[in-house]
Order: sequence, then structure tokens, then C-alpha cells
Amino acid sequence: MNPKENAARKALELIQSGMILGLGTGSTAERFVRALAEEVAKGLTVVGIPSSKETEELAISLGIPLSTLEEHGKVDLTVDGADEVDPSFNLIKGLGGALVREKILASVSRGMAVIVDSSKLTDRLGSRSPVPVEVIPYGVAPCRRKLEEMGASVALRLAGSAPFVTDNGNQVLDARFKQIPDPAGLESQINDIPGVVGNGLFIGMADTVIVGTEEGATVKRKGDRG
Ligand code: A5P
Repeated sequence: MNPKENAARKALELIQSGMILGLGTGSTAERFVRALAEEVAKGLTVVGIPSSKETEELAISLGIPLSTLEEHGKVDLTVDGADEVDPSFNLIKGLGGALVREKILASVSRGMAVIVDSSKLTDRLGSRSPVPVEVIPYGVAPCRRKLEEMGASVALRLAGSAPFVTDNGNQVLDARFKQIPDPAGLESQINDIPGVVGNGLFIGMADTVIVGTEEGATVKRKGDRG
């Protein structure tokens, strides 16, 4: 089976009836939502809180009951994909553009399980992915200059020939850094730029990483050896 499918299906083992679930965004998270819907159809009782309009529409179409962060102050578990995962379970997310809502959801979740294939594992964050930075439209040019002053090569994300627009009505600057020696420091430094709404560095948020392969999936929990 497909590695992303295997990771998504393995994550079902973490789900219990009665849970409030954060539903991620992206192709791996989509597989999880579809697999979850099969269990809901068989009688699993969960409530999902989606991290994007895309996931919301998918979950509704599949019959997964949904709620909001107004209704629930805490989420039991968020299951989401990632673009890069380092050995400390720090992440880069947001190539799908839902980074701000994904981070809000993760921040109120008791647990965060990341579902990936092995291509997402990296020794150092930033080796392949840029850091997505969501910026209000008014601030795009100054934010871009600030990120460049910090050493990044920056590209405005496009959807066709127009700027990509997030669910929050903002734009995304993809900032590629040669090295990220201090991911937590960089996360704060980027967030301090006026106009920045959030960035795709997720530091200390994930506690479980499920890596799918062609044959199956491995569950790694924070603190496990090896
Ligand atoms: C969505 O905004 C992203 O954070 C995704 O979770 C991330 O890009 C991984 O997506 P895939 O599962 O499609 O690789």
C-alpha cells in the first residue's frame, strides 16, 4: 500500500470513541480523514475540528461530525501531515497553506500525531523545505525584505499567476534558509516581524510521528530510544 495511506491508517489506532480530534490538511491528512470516516460509519463516535476549509468540506462530505474551537477549549489529539520532521519531532509545515490554523489547533491539543512517509524525515530542518510565512497583504513587501535580511531567499507563493491566498485572506512568503541552527529562535524571530501572522516552524508540538512505508508504518513516540 501507499506509504501515506499506511501512516494514515496506523493513526486510527490512536483514536478512541469520545475524542475531540484536530483534523489536519494536505494529502496525508486527507487519507486520514477518509479512513476516519470509514470508522465513523461503523459507529466510532468522534468530533472533528478541521484546520482548513478544504478539510472541513471533505469531512462534511464524508459524514464526520464537526465542531469549532469556540465550542471546545481543548482538543484530545490532532493528526496532521508535515513537510519536514527532525529527530526531535520539530516540524516544517505549511506547503499546503494551512499553517496558521494547523498551529492554532496543535497548540490547544493534548497530543499531536504527525503522519508522514520517510521522505519527510530530515536531520536538519530546512534542508529541503522553505519555511512558509503567512503575512497580511499590506505587509508582504516589508516582511519579504526582513526575511531576506535574516539570510533567506524568499518567494511569494503563487496560485497560477496570482498570489496564493490562505483561508484567512493572507499571502504566503516561502523563506528558504541555508541553515536553521536554532529552529525555536527562528520561529520567534519570524513571528516578531510586523505583518507576520505565523510561520511553519512547529517546535515542540508533536509527540508522536508515524512513518509510513510500502509495507506498513512505524509509530515513534517522543522519548523513545532509537
Ligand atoms: C498543509 O498546510 C501542510 O502543513 C501539510 O500538512 C503538509 O504540507 C504536508 O502535506 P502532504 O501530506 O500533502 O505532504
